[in-house]
Amino acid sequence: MPHLSRSDELVFFVNGRKVLERNADPEVTLLTFLRKNLRLTGTKYVCGRGGCGACTVMVSKHDPVSRKIRHFSVTACLVPICSLYGAAVTTVEGVGSIKTRLHPVQERIAKSHGTQCGFCTPGMVMSMYTLLRNHPQPSEEQLMEALGGNLCRCTGYRPILESGRTFCAESSGCQQKGRGKCCLDQGENATSSLGGESDICTELFAKDEFQPLDPTQELIFPPELLRMAENPEKRTLTFHGERVTWISPGTLKDLLELKVKHPDAPLILGNTSLGPAKKSQGHFHPVLLSPARISELSMVSTTSEGLTIGAGCSLAQVKDILAGRVSELPEEKTQTYRALLKHLKRLAGQQIRNMASLGGHIMSRHCYSDLNPVLAVGNTALNLMSKEGTRQIPLDRDFLAGLASADLKPEEILESVYIPHSQRWEFVSAFRQAQCQQNALADVTAGMRVLFQEGTDTIEDLSLAYGGVGDATISAQKSCQQLLGRRWNEPMLDEACRLLLDEVSLPGGAPGGSVEFKRTLVVSFFFKFYLEVLQELKKPGKLLSVPDGHHFPEISDRFLSALEDFPATVPQGVQRYQSVDSHQALQDPVGRPIMHLSGLKHATGEAIFCDDIPTVDKELFMALVTSTRAHAKIISVDLSKALELPGVVDVITAEDIPGTNGAEDDKLLAVDKVLCVGQIVCAVVAETEAQAKRAVEETKIAYEDLEPVIFTIEDAIKHSSFLCPEKKLEQGNVEKAFEEVDQIVEEVHVGGQEHFYMETQRVLVIPKTEDKELDIYVSTQDPAHVQKTVSSTLNIPINRITCHVKRVGGGFGGKVGRPAVLGAIAAVGANKTGYPIRLVLDREDDMLITGGRHPLFGKYKVGFMNSGRIRALDIECFINGGCTLDDSELVTEFLILKMENAYKIRNLRFRGRACMTNLPSNTAFRGFGFPQGTLVTESCITAVAAKCGLLPEKVREKNMYKTVDKTIYKQAFNPEPLIRCWNECLDKSSFHSRRMQVAEFNKKNYWRKRGLAVVPMKFSVGFAATSFHQAAALVHIYTDGSVLVTHGGNELGQGIHTKMLQVASRELKVPMSHMHICETSTATVPNTIATAASIGSDVNGRAVQNACQILLKRLEPIIKKNPEGTWEDWIEAAFEQRISLSATGYFRGYEAFMDWEKGEGDPFPYYVYGAASSEVEVDCLTGAHKKIRTDIVMDACCSLNPAIDIGQIEGSFTQGMGLYTTEELKYSPEGVLYSRGPDDYKIPTITDVPEEFNVSLLPSSQTPLTIYSSKGLGESGMFLGSSVFFAIADAVATARRERDIAEDFTVRSPATPERVRMACADRFTEMIPRDDPKTFKPWSIPIA
Ligand SMILES: Cc1cc2nc3c(=O)[nH]c(=O)nc-3n(C[C@H](O)[C@H](O)[C@H](O)COP(=O)(O)OP(=O)(O)OC[C@H]3O[C@@H](n4cnc5c(N)ncnc54)[C@H](O)[C@@H]3O)c2cc1C
Ligand code: FES
Ligand code: FES
Repeated sequence: MPHLSRSDELVFFVNGRKVLERNADPEVTLLTFLRKNLRLTGTKYVCGRGGCGACTVMVSKHDPVSRKIRHFSVTACLVPICSLYGAAVTTVEGVGSIKTRLHPVQERIAKSHGTQCGFCTPGMVMSMYTLLRNHPQPSEEQLMEALGGNLCRCTGYRPILESGRTFCAESSGCQQKGRGKCCLDQGENATSSLGGESDICTELFAKDEFQPLDPTQELIFPPELLRMAENPEKRTLTFHGERVTWISPGTLKDLLELKVKHPDAPLILGNTSLGPAKKSQGHFHPVLLSPARISELSMVSTTSEGLTIGAGCSLAQVKDILAGRVSELPEEKTQTYRALLKHLKRLAGQQIRNMASLGGHIMSRHCYSDLNPVLAVGNTALNLMSKEGTRQIPLDRDFLAGLASADLKPEEILESVYIPHSQRWEFVSAFRQAQCQQNALADVTAGMRVLFQEGTDTIEDLSLAYGGVGDATISAQKSCQQLLGRRWNEPMLDEACRLLLDEVSLPGGAPGGSVEFKRTLVVSFFFKFYLEVLQELKKPGKLLSVPDGHHFPEISDRFLSALEDFPATVPQGVQRYQSVDSHQALQDPVGRPIMHLSGLKHATGEAIFCDDIPTVDKELFMALVTSTRAHAKIISVDLSKALELPGVVDVITAEDIPGTNGAEDDKLLAVDKVLCVGQIVCAVVAETEAQAKRAVEETKIAYEDLEPVIFTIEDAIKHSSFLCPEKKLEQGNVEKAFEEVDQIVEEVHVGGQEHFYMETQRVLVIPKTEDKELDIYVSTQDPAHVQKTVSSTLNIPINRITCHVKRVGGGFGGKVGRPAVLGAIAAVGANKTGYPIRLVLDREDDMLITGGRHPLFGKYKVGFMNSGRIRALDIECFINGGCTLDDSELVTEFLILKMENAYKIRNLRFRGRACMTNLPSNTAFRGFGFPQGTLVTESCITAVAAKCGLLPEKVREKNMYKTVDKTIYKQAFNPEPLIRCWNECLDKSSFHSRRMQVAEFNKKNYWRKRGLAVVPMKFSVGFAATSFHQAAALVHIYTDGSVLVTHGGNELGQGIHTKMLQVASRELKVPMSHMHICETSTATVPNTIATAASIGSDVNGRAVQNACQILLKRLEPIIKKNPEGTWEDWIEAAFEQRISLSATGYFRGYEAFMDWEKGEGDPFPYYVYGAASSEVEVDCLTGAHKKIRTDIVMDACCSLNPAIDIGQIEGSFTQGMGLYTTEELKYSPEGVLYSRGPDDYKIPTITDVPEEFNVSLLPSSQTPLTIYSSKGLGESGMFLGSSVFFAIADAVATARRERDIAEDFTVRSPATPERVRMACADRFTEMIPRDDPKTFKPWSIPIA
């Protein structure tokens, strides 16, 4: 809204410094302001929707009610700067710095190895810091709560929690130590512990070196703000932006008047509802009314009847208020409060609870709201206010449905919320089920209340409300009405379920999908409520009289196990590794748990990522226009409106490309037709990000749909739509072997996976004024590929282009190929406009455009003996490659090569094909086909075990490689370390005795089942080609003795630079502190190979070693001459003697080849072996699970850095766990990806870490081939996450066995709560209505 009036001055503080904005724009968020205006780039952008916590900062405000300073964490991406009037903001830069003083939180997270790529670290630091400002000695529960809203894609959270735990009051390492229960003391056969336990270490950092926390050292609340708070400004403040006006009245009276003047203007409080709606649904409000300064909206009052909470109170405050009432009042009065508290613990993360207001929550009326169903059943009333006066309305079905008759009038506001006490004979409960326990919107949420006639079990009043099953929260009024007067017994339960399914009905194609699951939850939750109430009634003295003299239904404890929720417990565990040889020189860092080189900088926000590079002169911003059709001809592209918008400089199309536009079948920018939704058509270049994004909306493309449109593997097979020929490996005589044995034929589906690197794709291209030179700063795993692609796109020689990679905020394979495409498009923009171009993908665009792990469909036929011996196995796999080849052929090859995993099966056939579909092209992803393919093999083993009535571990053991042997592609290897890992894992996890305990538990619990599984692993490292194993390094020694190392690997968080300096330090015998790595650059080390395939540290390490050895050889005569001299003396002498102090090191690579014609080769330099066991507990009524324990044993041989390697194992295991349990990509029937952010795509959170998580590196293991006998561990742990999947499958099988349903069920990964619940079939899954698939259009389609 263009406005001529002057804005008021916006005053707030950042890190103790006053910020005075004269032209504050209401559309600018704190995150943008910090990063762009104040150049405080420590706070990161990851999702922009409050869902990841990477942008966490602390806000401190004077609370006018308590007159205290309140410190709370917020996600800066959702905070409009205008809401900060009078607030103090602390960012990671304000907490500490490596230049001045580190804060203990920063020091500890880095030294505990809690950072890998470091992109999440500032957010983690700020969540922990805020916790410590409020609780200098927090409890472990508070720590979990504080970090619940922060995602990390690298570490697996364990080390982050461990650093936080050092501040906790009760922290003393393993709680069980010395009580005979410690994980360290355990093991079925204590004497089998490997080779002299004395050289086994279990500490990865030295706690006693940490500086203590001194709360007196923290920044104080600015006195100026305190003065402002004590004499509050009563005047209305107004901030006019380009399009939006923010009005913040100082009094309630003014607010009510303003509401009359601007009836359509929303009240903005936490902006956690308005903000995301603006971003994803384009909601736009020209005027916003902020009641933040009105203390009346934060008042709390109590009466003997109930509690009134101001609508402006944050959900975190509501939680504290309710907890207070619960501790003060008798239990019977606090039923509703307890139910609300239960949900408040799980609702979003801490930051959102701190920001979101009770009023905003209620008024948003989200269908998934957790609180509204409970408030509705709890007879809550809403106190409304307007200039005309006050009135009260019930928070009931009509209000929730948004009926005008039951709603606020435009000029009214919600002042407060009255929640009455519950009464005697009244019971209230709350239920929710989401994809994961914390920080996830619920699929179904419910509030339930029953009131009995005094002293009886006869229903006097009943209220049931559900969220997630329609457009709004639904009250099942009719059902409740019909159940009045009924007794609380089984017939009532049956009747209630029938009524509920009728009333709370969902059509087959309902938005959000999961329709049958939701229907099942509707009745399962009621059943839980039924049991809960029954249990309450059973309490002695509760029931005074039962009408017919009968007792209420007897129910055994076995069935009551459905009741408790899984608690969010703080994980415990031990990390074991072999210490270095006692003769190793103290200054030699190899084999020691050295902290990540950038760890401290990650923690202070001083580590510079691509988009942290300051704006360069005349820089422009690029935003991409992508296809909205899956397969269509482009009829026209109308850029006129976009080009007219202010700030827009140009739109780049394929016609602007001077060189080649990608490959014929894989164009950088679409020409004539599009092959998937999300394909890049053109790119807008504008002065600012906001302008570029607005112009994208105004770019009009007309399409004509083409046939066929293929999304699923099934359709691709039908249409013979493949990207490359079939790959096949075979040994023995499969057909003949099948003739003599029992067989099973089964199908396995494995869903895809989004990389979800925290740092989205980004690139900055700076054209130089001379000779067509370009500097490209890019977040990539393969700068040489970016360089080459830009060269061919612009048609200029490679030597004019320099790619720089300082560090990458997570890659996982997703930054091997795509950055070249984005780099090339940005370079075309820079070439055409002559200006630097910055391209930063939004999370939504990144997920839409870039593709991920290939979904897989596998069919196996397995022939076996009763003993569990597998005689023949035939597996055919299809992967969904998307619309272009990308890495799909290679992924298919690796899949086939690796699929045998740890098993020797004499008659074996593997076939694989990559399907071409109209989806974004899938690409490299950690494990490269292994995690998907091996799930088929392991599922087959599980199926054989079930058929033979054997335990899966027995069948695994029976079929495992035992002696020196050859793989299916005839590569010889010795499986001894595999067997050792397997045995160690069984032993360390006390697997066999826990099997019995699990069986015992399962006998005693009907609705809860535990499952246990152990998987072995043989993972091949490297690329199947020698040339891909070459590597180079460049080492300079300067005249002061300092050493600069450069090599061809990229720092993705995996600690490659740290390891390289460890190598250089050992070789040159110079401390790491004398050494430095600046960046990876194509100008210093040319023609590099992608940092991938777990081999980066290995081959680059050899190159660094080679360079150092060359240098040392040159220095040898000088050292000999002056053996007592210092390093600096020798370097000075060498310079004097004109000896070159710079050397290139080179490693020609491991021999590797594969002959696909013959099906033979030596494709991999070596294998990593491992084993993992996991135990889970499944709630059969909801499909939720908790991870009780995981034990991993991995053969890392002589780890270069055990802290980094254990970090890689834990991180990849957790990513694997996500792949197999929660990460689910959902596509519309038109091929549009729905899941485009952390709200709808759930990577593991802190509450997903197994309660006990032990990792051991197999000691006394050697491999002569590699650098210092180490192994690359980047990818292998992914597959070990499947131990959780098979443990869940084990639990489900137990449930099915008990219910007499076929034990074998189709395995589908991920094993989401939905799949688990539906597999645990019971009377509830049987009673739900099922739709004929032909009668409706599903909301989403399965593409695997
Ligand atoms: C990452 C994330 C995770 C989430 N997870 C969950 C979850 O697990 N479960 C769940 O239930 N919810 C969840 N939410 C939703 C969250 O609870 C709501 O967004 C929040 O409660 C809204 O409050 P707010 O103060 O931010 O509202 P705002 O966005 O500031 O305002 C929302 C609306 O409320 C109106 N409004 C606000 N106050 C008043 C008033 N006093 N009188 C009249 N109208 C008013 C405004 O006009 C506006 O239309 C999540 C949100 C995010 C961003
Ligand atoms: S970027 Fe703000 S929460 Fe994700
Ligand atoms: S270290 Fe947490 S996301 Fe990389």
